[in-house]
Amino acid sequence: MSIVSAVTSNGGTPTSGAVPSPASATVAIFGASGDLTARKLMPALFDLWNDGYLSDASPIVGVARREKSDESFRNEIYEAINGHVRSGAVTADQWAGFSRRLFYRQLDIASPDGYAGFREQLETLERQQGTGPNRVIYMATSPDLFLPAVEHLGFGGLIPGRDVPEWLRVVFEKPFGHDLASAQELSGNLRRLLREDQIYRIDHYLGKETVQNILLFRFGNSIFEPLLNRNQVDHVQITVAESQGLERGRGGYYDNSGAMRDVLQNHVLQLMCLIAMEPPAQFNARDLHDEKLKVLKALAPGNKGDISSWAISGQYSAGLVDGQAAVSYLSEERIPADSRTETYVAMKVLIDNWRWAGVPFYLRTGKRLPSRVSEIAIQFKQPPLNLFNTVECEGDVCELVGTRPNKLVFRIQPSESIKLSFSTKRPGMQYQVHPVTMDFNYKQAFSEALPEAYERLLLDVLRGDSTLFMRSDELEAAWQFVTPILEHWKSSDVGPEPYRAGSWGPRIADAMLINDGRAWRTPSM
Ligand code: BG6
Repeated sequence: MSIVSAVTSNGGTPTSGAVPSPASATVAIFGASGDLTARKLMPALFDLWNDGYLSDASPIVGVARREKSDESFRNEIYEAINGHVRSGAVTADQWAGFSRRLFYRQLDIASPDGYAGFREQLETLERQQGTGPNRVIYMATSPDLFLPAVEHLGFGGLIPGRDVPEWLRVVFEKPFGHDLASAQELSGNLRRLLREDQIYRIDHYLGKETVQNILLFRFGNSIFEPLLNRNQVDHVQITVAESQGLERGRGGYYDNSGAMRDVLQNHVLQLMCLIAMEPPAQFNARDLHDEKLKVLKALAPGNKGDISSWAISGQYSAGLVDGQAAVSYLSEERIPADSRTETYVAMKVLIDNWRWAGVPFYLRTGKRLPSRVSEIAIQFKQPPLNLFNTVECEGDVCELVGTRPNKLVFRIQPSESIKLSFSTKRPGMQYQVHPVTMDFNYKQAFSEALPEAYERLLLDVLRGDSTLFMRSDELEAAWQFVTPILEHWKSSDVGPEPYRAGSWGPRIADAMLINDGRAWRTPSM
């Protein structure tokens, strides 16, 4: 059953709703030889350009340490994006148009020496292309280069002052800090060189179409919002599950990071903020950040007991995922044999405010789980009286069941959808309960493909719209909550609980919900 057949799409900025003229600025990507540039940034820039959102005059400059000509950089990018852009293959005409704006700059990002030359190259390019001196620098580098690179941009005269019309915006990939102290230190140091409106801290989950739709669903409709509070909601489950283990070459980064820093501290907490926040006074960056911050400040442990009773870490052992043998985390490339890094986190948290007091939010993320699925499931309270029963059988086992609790499920990926489940009467001479769903499914409702998160976010940087980025105080509030948990795990005698690759995580994570009389959902695919 389809409850929504068409929704007006908002192709422009969240505030205007209008499609703007193509953005014109130089985009320089630091760390241009990396995987992110090839897999995400370049396909996104191509699609933006192909859809007319990026001006023909905008140069895209790949910056990295290796020596390379423009030509060989272009060839590499062609290999990387062909077959990975929205339309599939890149045609000869498209490539001729797009590759004209691709340039390469060899630069040791960590050393101040080449920055003056880099600035001259940008100025020459901008003169030739007839574009203005507005620039986006995308830091797709390792985080230890964030600060030196910005310092050198400053010394190289690449950071414009407050009173000039030209602008520079710097995008920082995660991880932004390793814990609360390092995030605060990095923010403090960057603030000496850049204003907050020049800093874009990316969390690609916020660029996902389905994630943006949470806000429109909640605040663009009047029927659901009155239900989202402690009077109606029994609990909320947020899952970001992945079936993959470590991608090639990521072992070094991941082992220093773990599931808490890699996904829970950012993607999962951001999803929680969007589903739990109050309506902003206006739909603009400041008001949205303010409301998300209030949620993070109200975050509290799910139990009064020890941290291990509400925050669980796990690490995958060998198993089968999708019928394929998967090695244990400890056997992955570049992972020390005695690593205690968690590849799974489950937490029970509360949001101590008027709306949500007493409603548990169960959060979980992990690698090598049975499937790749991200969703937010809101389970409502049972009706106060159970008037209807029915017999349900699974094989030979039958039981008398009442109505099932209503659920509202936001499927972020894959099979993007929103589903509301409720009970109906099975046709017949008796009152027999039958569970059904009303769903809105993106594929059925819209013919166009969903844009990639990076497309939307890159366009927002070009437009100067930081709504879908993280403000420093939000990020610090998130670190403030997770840092004591990370410290507890580090000092604990016991490491993460093992779970079999291809299972839904360690048993103690199940027990945490069973103790509350609840169970984790098994997301249906
Ligand atoms: C990234 C993490 O931020 O998000 C990865 O570093 C993870 O480890 C990825 O695989 C998941 O993103 P998505 O968009 O594939 O759900």
